Amino acid sequence: MPFARIAGVGSYLPSNRVLNSDLISRGIETDDEWIVSRTGIRARHLAETGQTSSELGFEASKKALEMAGFDPASVDLIIVATSTPDFVFPSTACLLQHKLGNSGATAFDVQAVCSGFLYALTIADKFIKSGSHKRALVVGAEVFSRILDWNDRATCVLFGDGAGAVVLEASETSGILATALHADGAHHGILSVPGNVCGGQIIGDPFLRMDGQAVFKFAVRVLAEVANECCEMAGIAPESVDWLIPHQANIRIIEATAKKMGLPMDRVIVTVDQHGNTSAASVPLALDAAVRDGRIKRGQKILLEGVGGGFTWGAALIEF
Ligand code: UT7
Repeated sequence: MPFARIAGVGSYLPSNRVLNSDLISRGIETDDEWIVSRTGIRARHLAETGQTSSELGFEASKKALEMAGFDPASVDLIIVATSTPDFVFPSTACLLQHKLGNSGATAFDVQAVCSGFLYALTIADKFIKSGSHKRALVVGAEVFSRILDWNDRATCVLFGDGAGAVVLEASETSGILATALHADGAHHGILSVPGNVCGGQIIGDPFLRMDGQAVFKFAVRVLAEVANECCEMAGIAPESVDWLIPHQANIRIIEATAKKMGLPMDRVIVTVDQHGNTSAASVPLALDAAVRDGRIKRGQKILLEGVGGGFTWGAALIEF
């Protein structure tokens, strides 16, 4: 059975970089010290009006395909993880496929909020392992700024827009070693956008709502559990992982997870300070940053993990 090996990575952040101090100038009652001490976030990037998830995903995908040296037409599977799709339908994956000039590949979206990239990566791994597909493009792309209530300072300072992409290819040597995915819908109310479109009207609330403290506690518990589960599946001690790339939502959650795994922070990739919580885009954004700056090297073992609305959570252990 082949492995799914990472052949290329890429990411894209919209050019509009907004510092914590810029939020205050926009009239949000907050301060840099509060945001940095509670979350570690210093800046986020916001998409221009009309700039969509498929556009951000397109930019990230081009870079990942270029690193892999693959013609976009040679990709036979495209999965986009997003909770902020361009349209109700068609899927953002189909729109991205068209932008890339690919036709005929299997293409669909996955909706698992901030764990979306881990869900998409796991699905792609299983397609490749089954032998049905050889080259997959897995993208996390979000424009969360569209679903934020800019009058709710407890949430609007936390999120940003962006996209990350990974190209996988069937390989006999190395790749994704183990994956674990979980969900518990009993906790759907602690992080949600509890609205929808019906008969041309918005029914319910179209903005992101969160019980921050409940999410915090849940995230710390399940991220440590799923990290251990995934390492156990691969027969690797958690503390022997070369790099941990957790969902980039909050530095305190990241530090607590690393501590529970017995990993020092110098083996944890942290980019939340630079782009805030970009939901499904956060893990591939951090992966791309660490591959391109040379920290992550071929042959190293990397643990990726995510947690988010649903509630959903998951991890993937990769030999890069
Ligand atoms: O993908 C998963 C996504 N979510 C997360 O990872 C979030 C997890 N949760 C958290 O990171 C934290 O719960 C938050 C950062 C969201 C909040 O931190 P907290 O320590 O739980 O703060 P809190 O909600 O209990 O609020 C404490 C105080 C309140 O003031 P009072 O009532 O004590 O006077 C808030 O009104 O902080 C106030 N506050 C703010 N102050 C300045 C809330 N938001 C802000 C703000 N700036 N932006």
